[in-house]
Amino acid sequence: MKRYHLTTFGCQMNEHDSERMKGMLESLGYAEVPTREDADLILFNTCSIRERADNRLLGHLGEAKRLKAESPQRVVGVGGCWSQSMKERVFEQFPFVDVAFGPGQIPKLAEFLTSDSLTAQGYFEFESFPGHLPMKRAREFQAWLQVSVGCNSVCSYCIVPSTRGREVSRHPAELIAEVERLAAEGVREVTLLGQNVNSYGRDLPRGAKATFAELLARVDAVEGIERVRYTSPHPKDMREDVVRAHVELPSLCEHIHLPLQSGSSRVLKAMKRTYDRERYLDRVAMIREHVPDCALSTDIIVGFPGETEAEFSETLEVAEQVRYDSAFTFVFSPRRGTAAADYGDQLPHTIKRERMERLLEVVQRRAHERAQRFVGRTMEVLVEGPSRTDESRLRGRTRHNKAVNFDGSAAAGELVKVQVAAATSQSLTGAEARLASVA
Ligand code: 5AD
Ligand code: SF4
Repeated sequence: MKRYHLTTFGCQMNEHDSERMKGMLESLGYAEVPTREDADLILFNTCSIRERADNRLLGHLGEAKRLKAESPQRVVGVGGCWSQSMKERVFEQFPFVDVAFGPGQIPKLAEFLTSDSLTAQGYFEFESFPGHLPMKRAREFQAWLQVSVGCNSVCSYCIVPSTRGREVSRHPAELIAEVERLAAEGVREVTLLGQNVNSYGRDLPRGAKATFAELLARVDAVEGIERVRYTSPHPKDMREDVVRAHVELPSLCEHIHLPLQSGSSRVLKAMKRTYDRERYLDRVAMIREHVPDCALSTDIIVGFPGETEAEFSETLEVAEQVRYDSAFTFVFSPRRGTAAADYGDQLPHTIKRERMERLLEVVQRRAHERAQRFVGRTMEVLVEGPSRTDESRLRGRTRHNKAVNFDGSAAAGELVKVQVAAATSQSLTGAEARLASVA
């Protein structure tokens, strides 16, 4: 039996693609092994979103090079966004790579492995959804559902439109059939994935058209699915129908990830985000009006080219005002081929770092404050397994997407009630409700 080792970088979309890769490899008779030394096939599913992702990958590739030199019959494969952004240059710069492929070409990996090809191959044209591929899920009760690939926005900092191409939506009937299959296999929580999920369906042919809100309703209606999430929406496409769905659909969780990127309308314009500060805050107000308890998370970039101190302060103001439950914060990193990489007014690293620290202070303080609203409440938790810090406790997630460490005896995949005793910006602690009432 052949053995493979796969390392995944980047977003949930990539993690999902890796599940497909694993399922496909196992159907070809490969078994996963925990170390690269033991693998006949060394694979990387790469990301290119920021420079740091590239740098991390290079270290790993160095190890693959050494292992390949030791036993040249090993196969080294590089898939994903970084690979797509490099295309044939992968083979020039890393001659030990045997197969390189972009995010849309996972099935091509199987074609390569089952052919007698002795020469390196690259596959970079989008061909099809990997939807028909088997999938090896990290947890049997949680699954991702890829609703679309690609992105039609042109955010000036972002490499994704060039690595994942134009937006293509999957047919709703195909998606619902997939969710029904997942539910039959024991999945209780699905996360709908897309680069811009809420523009879903606009490219579908007449007769098959469905809006994102309609898709959510159809997924909610599938028997056995208890929780539905989605990521990421674009604020420009966040409509009232989707916000209302959070009230109307019992399984749709009380959490919305709404990427801000900057609190300055001038910077947002330079980012080509197509909304300004006021429109973003209107969206937040609409969410809070319909779903007052909704958790809100976001992505923020600091140090965009030309960002002034006053403009950065506007980002701090918005973070103070919205009071996010959590935020992913990024230092701007110029990406090859994006418009912002060529803007003349790049900021020095020291300013970016200093702004990042100030933003983190606001984000963490506000998240900590926000989390206190859960203390004393009994919340529904989907158990994920033992706690990472204390094996004798359990870990799970609330519908608001807060991690919870708690005392209890439930099995992974169960939905339980947890009485919350304490909250930090990152997580909650508590005890399973029936235990709490005994104590
Ligand atoms: N530099 C810094 N952060 C970036 N992101 C995307 N591209 C860049 C970049 N060039 C961030 C955005 C996006 C998140 C996934 O990554 O905030 O929402
Ligand atoms: Fe995901 Fe973007 Fe990284 Fe690709 S480049 S893996 S889409 S975060």
